[in-house]
Amino acid sequence: MLVNNQIFGAPLAGVTDRPFRRIVRMFSPNAPLYTEMISCHSLVGAHKNCLRNFDRYDDEAPIGAQIFGANAELMADAARILQDAGASWIDINMGCPVPKVATRSGAGANLMRDHRLAEKIMRAVVSAVGIPVSIKTRLGWDDAHRDWADLIHIAADCGVQFAALHGRTRAQLYNGVSDLPRLENVPIPIIGNGDIKTDADVARVRGLGYSGVMIGRGMLGRPWILGELAGECVAPGNIGAVALRHFEYMLEYYGEKNATQMFRKHAAWYSVGIPNSADFRIRVNQISNADDMRREICEFWGCELNI
Ligand SMILES: Cc1cc2nc3c(=O)[nH]c(=O)nc-3n(C[C@H](O)[C@H](O)[C@H](O)COP(=O)(O)O)c2cc1C
Repeated sequence: MLVNNQIFGAPLAGVTDRPFRRIVRMFSPNAPLYTEMISCHSLVGAHKNCLRNFDRYDDEAPIGAQIFGANAELMADAARILQDAGASWIDINMGCPVPKVATRSGAGANLMRDHRLAEKIMRAVVSAVGIPVSIKTRLGWDDAHRDWADLIHIAADCGVQFAALHGRTRAQLYNGVSDLPRLENVPIPIIGNGDIKTDADVARVRGLGYSGVMIGRGMLGRPWILGELAGECVAPGNIGAVALRHFEYMLEYYGEKNATQMFRKHAAWYSVGIPNSADFRIRVNQISNADDMRREICEFWGCELNI
């Protein structure tokens, strides 16, 4: 059962890659997680420059593979590929506000203002796969069009099994505060998302009638937050050891050059709130090889290099 008052890890492009998910799983073995959004064009075209096009998910359940695109046939093909790769369910991105996705390609948040296209895509994807299909969306395109409930009804009619709702409009991007509506008579379970970071946030959203909650930015530098909020673990005493392990997983996956560069932002997030972390972030941003990164992490957190 996917939607059972659980705490979901949100899809975060540039963050929730396979190495990050491995780290989250250390603390929260059973939390439902999402991939980063995956372009149906890139996946179906098997573009070599995108490693996630070749990920397998057999050892990652429960894992939702999120696709984005505006072409129903390609979205269906992408869903089939991800089902074959072992995804537990397929999620359709209907909320991404960035111009490259929403306005230039007609995908992501654009589907909130083009319900006919959204319906076509949902029907194509649902009939392409035997695993559940979900959508992730926002309140609407802008304040004048907060029509999320219409989209949810269309989704239910298409056979979509559940939805995640971020309490902002497309026009808000990530500004203002997430304002999730109280749910009444919704036809499918809805997961609440937006600005949820504490036990009190979780309780508030559950109290509004949501069937689960989803954490996005709260996971940055705190991959244990899902486990902590679910009461499955406590925050680790030694964050440096977590950061080191995460970096080793990234090295395995991306190779030294890319991993070192990509890990800089994670190192910065892990260090937030720690005394003298501003200097640490400046140093980390200049590191370009694995040994220097390992040494810097060990020195900053005072941990042993025993990987
Ligand atoms: C860096 C970043 C990347 C994101 N990437 C995706 C994505 O790939 N797919 C998606 O549906 N939403 C994406 N989102 C939106 C989040 O999943 C989530 O809806 C949003 O951040 C609000 O939740 P939060 O306040 O818990 O972060 C992204 C957000 C951020 C900040």
